[in-house]
Amino acid sequence: MALGRIRIDRFISQYLNVGRGDVRLILAQKRVRVDDIILRDINTVINTFSVVKLDGKIIQDNTPYYLMMNKPAGVVSATESSTHKTVIDIVKANTSLTPELCDSLHIVGRLDFHSTGLILLTNDSRWSSKVTAPDNKVTKKYRVTLATKLTPERTESYVKAFSQGMYFSFEKITTQPAKLIVLEDNVVEVHLTEGRYHQIKRMFGRFDNKVVRLHRFSIGQLVLDHGLVEGGCRLLSQDEVGGIFGRDARFDKDTI
Ligand code: URA
Repeated sequence: MALGRIRIDRFISQYLNVGRGDVRLILAQKRVRVDDIILRDINTVINTFSVVKLDGKIIQDNTPYYLMMNKPAGVVSATESSTHKTVIDIVKANTSLTPELCDSLHIVGRLDFHSTGLILLTNDSRWSSKVTAPDNKVTKKYRVTLATKLTPERTESYVKAFSQGMYFSFEKITTQPAKLIVLEDNVVEVHLTEGRYHQIKRMFGRFDNKVVRLHRFSIGQLVLDHGLVEGGCRLLSQDEVGGIFGRDARFDKDTI
């Protein structure tokens, strides 16, 4: 979804229910500030996160919020559910953010009901689109516990199949090359650059090996905070918001 943009004359005329001529006068009287700068040009386009003041009063301040959560098992990665606790319910219970703000958040890459670990939430759809866009190849890392132990022969064929990609007939796609690193007999690390439905379970399913536990511990350069207990959430720092894409990448609300 693109970041919402609107011309200032339209925005003010909708807000005050006045015509374009009145808006022109209001601007000429220097009564409107956008991001603390007096605005005079009627053609200026503002976005969802521009802070707009009229006569010193804030009339729009949609500050972007970015959160990480350590998702517990048994919680749905959804904004609403009639049957289960959702990640939004957890944000409401475990942070001081207002319910309205919590309801404005969306999930940046889901985890299955039983999966645990790093999940990101934001109200900034431009950022989330960039994190999840397949072309950006942001790597997600998972620790996976398997029902069947990996022998050296099995390891070789798994590693090969993961790196070559697997054909998913339902979506008619071949998965992007994925990395598999064996940590213990039945514990591996998987690195993916995409997020297909039940992707890891389906990939191990090809070998009739059941995923017993699945935990995501990083997305791009962002690693799950060890200090976060299950269900714990915290805001990301400005460095983390941009740094997720790598040290040289830039992301801030002014570079639209
Ligand atoms: N792959 C899965 O199968 N489940 C997840 O939760 C994440 C990746």
